[in-house]
Amino acid sequence: MNQLCCFLILITLQLFQSCCLKNGCQRINQFKSTLRGNYKNVISYENGSLLISRKQNSFNGSGRFLGVLFRNEIYANSADIKGTFCSINTSIIIQLRQNYELNTLVLWLWDGQSRQYNLVVYASHLENETVIFDQISAQAKAIQIQFSPQIVDKFRVYNRNGNSVSTTTNIIKAEAYYKK
Ligand SMILES: *[C@@H]1O[C@H](CO)[C@@H](O)[C@H](O)[C@H]1NC(C)=O
Ligand SMILES: *[C@@H]1O[C@H](CO)[C@@H](O)[C@H](O)[C@H]1NC(C)=O
Ligand SMILES: *[C@@H]1O[C@H](CO)[C@@H](O)[C@H](O)[C@H]1NC(C)=O
Ligand SMILES: *[C@@H]1O[C@H](CO)[C@@H](O)[C@H](O)[C@H]1NC(C)=O
Repeated sequence: MNQLCCFLILITLQLFQSCCLKNGCQRINQFKSTLRGNYKNVISYENGSLLISRKQNSFNGSGRFLGVLFRNEIYANSADIKGTFCSINTSIIIQLRQNYELNTLVLWLWDGQSRQYNLVVYASHLENETVIFDQISAQAKAIQIQFSPQIVDKFRVYNRNGNSVSTTTNIIKAEAYYKK
């Protein structure tokens, strides 16, 4: 089903491209923009993102401060709010509502104290994973990961060996978009 979808998208793209000379490039730009989520963030509750790894993940905080990495509210970054986290050899996996063409992922690694994370981040489409980030001592802060434009249906953050202070990988918030 997904493969068929992708095939149809490619065919459509080619048709638009061949129309391009005659009708100008407006329609192909429109189509590209839609595939790229209109250049806006595609990860949030409102955008229908699913945390399909939730059974292997933990969350700190409660109520309005429950640490789910899809929230759009302003975050308190305190000792007890460590977002969504997972233990060594497990992952935080975000499924997008649909396929998007993307090139940027922003992860806010919990930085309530100074620490370095050992993690790998993958973008995938139809279970074909591409490494887009791999560091043994990523500084705790919001990291912006640029990767070559590709169709993505999932992101996976793999906790390879915790961080310099504890065994977890803690993410306060994730955003993904196509950056022009
Ligand atoms: C995602 O949701 C936000 C907030 O509702 C909205 O502004 C944005 O346009 C949505 N992005 C997409 C790609 O639907
Ligand atoms: C955060 O969650 C972990 C795992 O559930 C728990 O061990 C820890 O006590 C929690 N921390 C706080 C401050 O709630
Ligand atoms: C993680 O996986 C590696 C390789 O399989 C293993 O050597 C290590 O003991 C595991 N660590 C934990 C904490 O499960
Ligand atoms: C997997 O994804 C990469 C990066 O997008 C691509 O270069 C490669 O051709 C894909 N492999 C398969 C088998 O689809």
